[in-house]
Amino acid sequence: MSRIVYVNGEFLPEDEAKISVFDRGFLFADAIYEVSTVLQGKLVDNAAHLARLQRSVDALNMGLPCSLEEIEAIQLEMLKRNDINEGGLYLQVTRGAADRDFAFPKDSKPSLVMFTQSRPVIDTAAAQNGISVVTTPDIRWQRRDIKTVGLLPASMAKQTALDAGANDAWLVEDGFITEGTSNNAHIVTKDGVLLTRALSNKILHGITRKAVLALAEETGITVEERSFTPDEVSNAAEAFITSASMFVTPVVTFNGEPIVDGKPGKVAKRLRELYIAFALKSLK
Ligand code: PDD
Repeated sequence: MSRIVYVNGEFLPEDEAKISVFDRGFLFADAIYEVSTVLQGKLVDNAAHLARLQRSVDALNMGLPCSLEEIEAIQLEMLKRNDINEGGLYLQVTRGAADRDFAFPKDSKPSLVMFTQSRPVIDTAAAQNGISVVTTPDIRWQRRDIKTVGLLPASMAKQTALDAGANDAWLVEDGFITEGTSNNAHIVTKDGVLLTRALSNKILHGITRKAVLALAEETGITVEERSFTPDEVSNAAEAFITSASMFVTPVVTFNGEPIVDGKPGKVAKRLRELYIAFALKSLK
């Protein structure tokens, strides 16, 4: 069955949907995206995703084609039309179509596109067994806090990791881990402190990160927001990633070496359980 996608006011079979070759998302990666997770046919923590969408478009002086309320109504309609139970809903806003010029066009109308992806979120091999990561240099731009579709460096890092036999890459800049290719990076020290890089323009302000840190603090885990090095990862008790699509997923191998015994750690497992409970409560 072909998916129904949304493009600028229309719900269409995916092979009938069209976007202009002059769309600035296509020509300049002049576009913002969000990925919301779907559980039980509903959206997880979607208000936070929409708030970040607004922040990103504001940072680029882009504007939205309609209100956030209307965007959410379209999102919910997409879930219904695609009869999706578990997976993700991808949403992209671009500055719209205009003749090619580096300057922002004065009168382009933002484009809005959405599609669904059906896949397991809760019961996954990655959650069960953990994943392996390798480090690669972070060659991305300096506004990683804006969720743009300029994802080629992240895509290259992911491919480098896969070519090295790992599942993902953690990116390194000035000797410190920034984040994963499409997730935030965290470790638990041997003293039981959850270390995570502080928010800045160097990383995406993860929606899952925020919720998980709050849950960790509620359960009495000490959270320290500071940058950490690859050596600290190698010597950690645990490591894990957070993202809308992977929730909390343990990292069990780092640069080819097991972290402790190479098995998912108990803090990561507990935080995943707590996050799933939070996600189910947040459904809309
Ligand atoms: N990625 N860091 C980066 C670079 C990301 O691309 C993402 C999300 C995150 C985690 O953010 P959140 O918890 O809000 O999903 C961190 C999405 C899932 C993606 O590109 O598919």
